Amino acid sequence: MTSPESAPPPQSTYVAFAGPPSAMPFSQRCLGEMPGILAGRYRLEHLLGAGGMGVVYRARDLLQEQYSDPDPYIALKMLNEDVDESPDAAALLYSEFSLSRRLHHPNLLRPYTFEVDAAQRRAFITMDLMRGLTLDKLLCERPLGLPWHEWHGIAVPLLDALAYIHRRGVLHGDVKPSNVMLSEDGVRLFDFGLGLATEGPLKDLPHLNRNRLNAWTPGYAAPELLDGSPLSAGADVYGVACVLYELASGRHPFRRLPSTQARDDGLEDKLKAPTNLPRRCWPALRTALALDPGRRNIGAAQLRDALGGVSSWW
Ligand SMILES: Nc1ncnc2c1ncn2[C@@H]1O[C@H](COP(=O)(O)OP(=O)(O)OP(=O)(O)O)[C@@H](O)[C@H]1O
Ligand SMILES: [Mg+2]
Repeated sequence: MTSPESAPPPQSTYVAFAGPPSAMPFSQRCLGEMPGILAGRYRLEHLLGAGGMGVVYRARDLLQEQYSDPDPYIALKMLNEDVDESPDAAALLYSEFSLSRRLHHPNLLRPYTFEVDAAQRRAFITMDLMRGLTLDKLLCERPLGLPWHEWHGIAVPLLDALAYIHRRGVLHGDVKPSNVMLSEDGVRLFDFGLGLATEGPLKDLPHLNRNRLNAWTPGYAAPELLDGSPLSAGADVYGVACVLYELASGRHPFRRLPSTQARDDGLEDKLKAPTNLPRRCWPALRTALALDPGRRNIGAAQLRDALGGVSSWW
């Protein structure tokens, strides 16, 4: 287990690989140990974000720059050092890449390449540099939540992206505010680090056995996941419903408690409809927040439609 001092931020995915934790706070280590240039081509400029698994930097692609590209900036993700020391590390990053590069939807972030810097023995993904705010940062700026029209403008594309991946047999596994960006180009769901294809043509992609990862984000993981059940579309729906509730009201539906504790404390009975949403939205959102997976009988597409959303894609 990571010590409190070195633990990633509370909304981070918790990943337990074997090995002792480092004493230095994680974000400080990322900054101190930023590699200069990777694969002779990508100059790392600054840290964009760090989660439980990865570190993401803004980088300049020197090759693009050489050809006078006016915008040679990209984002570059590698695993953080604690995870990188695991023998599965590169495979873990590759499986995130191989899954997300096969998903094509305007509200999903797409990666460019998977590469390895042989000299520094670091695997990394290059991807589109998103410019904007992740929803956790947006919530810090808007602590009372968003008015209906703004909320709707985020909820519908986000649910559309989730409905799309579910149609392709893919599960995200880590839907939470810091994995959704309101970028200059619109809403983007990203971070398929815990993603998994359970059916359809993507099922045969290389992936690690997620049970070995023992990874979750306590405040957004459905109770059945915390109880040890496998990932499901219903668990993604629970995560996105928490995000949407929080975005509407400025408050997490269950005070960011692990959902199992919320269930044991009977918090579901005290849930109130966010006041800035039309009443007609509440039954669907309430169903998506059900702590009992047997009563959470709504899919991402149904939730989108119930909120009055029209798919931008299909
Ligand atoms: N393409 C990008 N463009 C700009 N910023 C990004 C990009 N990808 C990631 N980030 C920033 O880096 C943060 C961490 O990225 P990411 O979620 O992929 O890492 P992680 O370690 O898998 O996180 P988690 O704790 O959710 O598992 C994001 O919350 C975001 O702020
Ligand atoms: Mg993340």
